[in-house]
Amino acid sequence: MFDEGLSPWWDVYVQVPSPLSDAVSACLHRLEAGAVVLHDDTVLAAEAVARLQGGPQAAGWTVVQGAWPADAAFLARLQALQQALYDWTAWLPGLRWQLACRQQHQHDYLTQWQRFFTPLVIAERLLIRPPWEKGPVPAGMACVELEPSMAFGTGLHPTTQLCLTLLVQALAGHPQGCLLDVGCGSGILALAALKLGLPRAVGVDIDPQAVAVARHNAARNGLRDQVAFLHGSWEVAKGPYTHLVANLYLEPLLALAGALPELLLPGGCGIVSGILETQEAPLREALQAAGLAVSARLAREGWVALRADRR
Ligand SMILES: C[S@@+](CC[C@H](N)C(=O)[O-])C[C@H]1O[C@@H](n2cnc3c(N)ncnc32)[C@H](O)[C@@H]1O
Repeated sequence: MFDEGLSPWWDVYVQVPSPLSDAVSACLHRLEAGAVVLHDDTVLAAEAVARLQGGPQAAGWTVVQGAWPADAAFLARLQALQQALYDWTAWLPGLRWQLACRQQHQHDYLTQWQRFFTPLVIAERLLIRPPWEKGPVPAGMACVELEPSMAFGTGLHPTTQLCLTLLVQALAGHPQGCLLDVGCGSGILALAALKLGLPRAVGVDIDPQAVAVARHNAARNGLRDQVAFLHGSWEVAKGPYTHLVANLYLEPLLALAGALPELLLPGGCGIVSGILETQEAPLREALQAAGLAVSARLAREGWVALRADRR
């Protein structure tokens, strides 16, 4: 897919005392890192940037590793991570941490994704898999094939999985209508909805790279004629829709909540995620203030997804 040499991904490594590793992992997920993994009893080797080392001196330390696309957002994400580490240091005087980044080589990129992007099964109904995983799709299962790339959304993130699970539930039987995917990323949610039987979908994203990747993934899955991926946000998507899914973060979700009565048909189903449990209350309030009824909730690793129906 890419030329030999550097891949379009950066590896990021944060060495912290082990009790802080879950917080760092959550922070990396919030900053949209992929392939987040914890290496316990490990430190960053002093003599080489971003080389991991075990041994007695590593006891009690964890290196949290993640990957970010080498795109325009990379520096801002790195700064946000650094700021979070400085904030923790302010609360925990004496805290020691190390941060290192290394642009992946093509070889690391492929082996890393082949290690972390393994087939994912959602509710025994939906299979998400990378192109190198071949083999028959189990009977009764819908399958979406996604190539890892610069756009978020390989199904690895807990919020993507929560949205997919709520989608499977919402689209049981013979679904009809059209879904709007706000913040489509790789297109994973819209493409899954189509594979689950919905006839049409529209996806929007403010990142033009994501739109290009989503279109590529639509073609790869033979769905090009059923879906339109557009650059922009919900303003560019003419409604109303029977279904809407938005895996974003709190601020845009609060704004989107106010637009849901116009974007959804009566009886329509909205699925929203991208929030932590601590952010759930304001989102619930915004959905209820917009006249929607929260009818389902899923949570995983501190993340929450809500289903809200238009009456
Ligand atoms: C967390 S990713 C979700 C990707 C994919 N839908 C998934 O569930 O894995 C969020 C995506 O939303 C896009 N985004 C962020 N704010 C947005 C907004 N206000 N309107 C549309 N897209 C937005 C980002 O560019 C990113 O691709």
